[in-house]
Amino acid sequence: MRLTGKVAMVSGGGTGIGRAIALAMAREGADILVPDIHLANAEAVVGEVRALGRTAVAQQVDVTKESQIQTAIREGIRACGQIDILVNNAGVNPGLGLPFTRQVEADWDKVFDVNVKSVFFTCKAIAPHFMERRAGKIVNIASIAGPLSSTTMPSYSVSKMGIITFTKIVAKELAPYSVNVNAICPGLLYTDMWKKIGEVIRETNPAYADLTPRQMFEKRVEEWIPMKREQTPEDIGHAAVFLASEEARNITGQALMVDGGVVM
Ligand SMILES: NC(=O)c1ccc[n+]([C@@H]2O[C@H](COP(=O)([O-])OP(=O)(O)OC[C@H]3O[C@@H](n4cnc5c(N)ncnc54)[C@H](O)[C@@H]3O)[C@@H](O)[C@H]2O)c1
Repeated sequence: MRLTGKVAMVSGGGTGIGRAIALAMAREGADILVPDIHLANAEAVVGEVRALGRTAVAQQVDVTKESQIQTAIREGIRACGQIDILVNNAGVNPGLGLPFTRQVEADWDKVFDVNVKSVFFTCKAIAPHFMERRAGKIVNIASIAGPLSSTTMPSYSVSKMGIITFTKIVAKELAPYSVNVNAICPGLLYTDMWKKIGEVIRETNPAYADLTPRQMFEKRVEEWIPMKREQTPEDIGHAAVFLASEEARNITGQALMVDGGVVM
């Protein structure tokens, strides 16, 4: 029970990786706030967290709206007494499959609003609380697409590299206040996001045309991952728990690859 007495806010925690992080942290004793644009999904995860004996609150939040983030953090602190851990997980991947010459401005605006600007908003909103308490953990979910500079996900790759850079900036700024700020770069995970990626791969790559989404995913894992196995949301949950725990108290400003060896 490495997070007993802690309160964690997990953005986009209603499904996929965010849900797994919320449950992993709850299993370690944390109470959980789940801000997500889809309230019904957040409420379902809150039900799962409560079944583990923890307190949980679902919040309908669009992370691109600074005022909604400020309200969610204020109300989260009021409901749970404090926030100890902020996980910036909400993310999107619009315009995927297209080289930069075919992407449009909206692809860049959307991806920067959801993946990058939101992290600026949440970090800015939580910083005074963490500085006052001289404690806090921030875990930002980036992606291997950042360091890999994917030509089929240009705006997404740049957004995720931006998260890694911003992680270091916030880590430097908050280090004197004993706040740890790190990023995780997940590899290939069969979530709703990857299923959408799979649809695009099928349309654009004849070698994948006759495969089911799951078969496509397994082929991609076989081709890309040195360890020849997929990553799971639970893998990311374990890494996030570690980075949010006191075991990682001297780790800050890092981007941890959880990718079966892709980026190396
Ligand atoms: N699936 C992968 O292979 C993979 C790999 C690397 C990184 N990632 C990253 O992991 C994170 C989670 O991805 P996932 O695979 O679970 O995706 P997902 O699409 O299954 O889940 C994303 C979650 O974010 C929420 N969300 C989206 N826009 C939002 C907004 N404006 N405000 C609030 N919530 C919003 C969604 O409702 C959803 O709950 C993302 O940041 C993604 O970029 C995923």
